Amino acid sequence: MARLDLTGKVALIAGASRGIGEETAMAFAEQGATVIVTSRKLEACAEVAEKIVAAGGKARAMKLHLGELSDHEEVISSIEQEEGRLDILVNNGATNPHFGPATETPVEAWDKTVEVNLRGPYYLTVKAAPLMKKSGGGSVVNVASVNGIQPGFGQGVYSMTKAALISMTQVFAQELGDQNIRVNALAPGLTQTKIASALMANEEATKSMVERNFSLKRVGQPQDMAEAILYLASDASSYVTGHTLVVDGGLTQRGAL
Ligand SMILES: NC(=O)c1ccc[n+]([C@@H]2O[C@H](COP(=O)([O-])OP(=O)(O)OC[C@H]3O[C@@H](n4cnc5c(N)ncnc54)[C@H](OP(=O)(O)O)[C@@H]3O)[C@@H](O)[C@H]2O)c1
Repeated sequence: MARLDLTGKVALIAGASRGIGEETAMAFAEQGATVIVTSRKLEACAEVAEKIVAAGGKARAMKLHLGELSDHEEVISSIEQEEGRLDILVNNGATNPHFGPATETPVEAWDKTVEVNLRGPYYLTVKAAPLMKKSGGGSVVNVASVNGIQPGFGQGVYSMTKAALISMTQVFAQELGDQNIRVNALAPGLTQTKIASALMANEEATKSMVERNFSLKRVGQPQDMAEAILYLASDASSYVTGHTLVVDGGLTQRGAL
């Protein structure tokens, strides 16, 4: 268990205002990390940081829109000045503005999906890596999706960005390993959060889908994902890099995507 301890480590989470990112922020803080809670919405992040501090943890909030490279710059230089080190980066934030045939994706939705889900994690990792190197190494966790392994119905461009994020994970794992920076991805299955709420709007349909398609007869919870991210971020996974950890209750293994 000591290898899961994050005491003295500094963790940046992009997309931590709710859902999987919020739960990960709480889990990291419980393990002793200082957590930089970020998303587009500073107020929502401040609430998460306040909850962590009220529970005895260490956290602060900053605005970071994954699509805005100037935000990346500001957050990384603020961490360098305030905390003086960076050990963990979680690229968690994502968007999925178009449900329907990929061929009918409006160009604005295509651009936004690629900008937030792929270009954002790419440039944030590029910006974060030198500070991680100066800190003696680090761990990057990219939150992809099972839809990056097999495309989700009606979620074509989102699935394409998640497949590219898995490839990006492998590229950076190869290029940053000699700086003692590990890079891994998490591929969550259906998880009960806002981004998936449209997929679970019909309670009866969700129940029968779970019964049919999931080996474990429930949808995922943010805590299931946060604990897997904690493993990948911590020294417990110190010889793991370039890997995609599927956490989906058996959905992919059943060929049920
Ligand atoms: N839930 C699922 O079934 C599921 C399945 C597979 C993969 N995932 C992945 O899990 C990750 C977390 O999603 P979730 O399920 O926890 O959904 P969620 O509750 O909707 O949370 C999404 C997070 O992303 C942030 N975000 C959105 N756009 C952003 C941007 N431009 N810049 C920075 N942050 C941004 C949101 O913050 P603000 O709105 O405050 O900016 C929020 O904190 C995503 O990468 C998603 O693709 C989820």
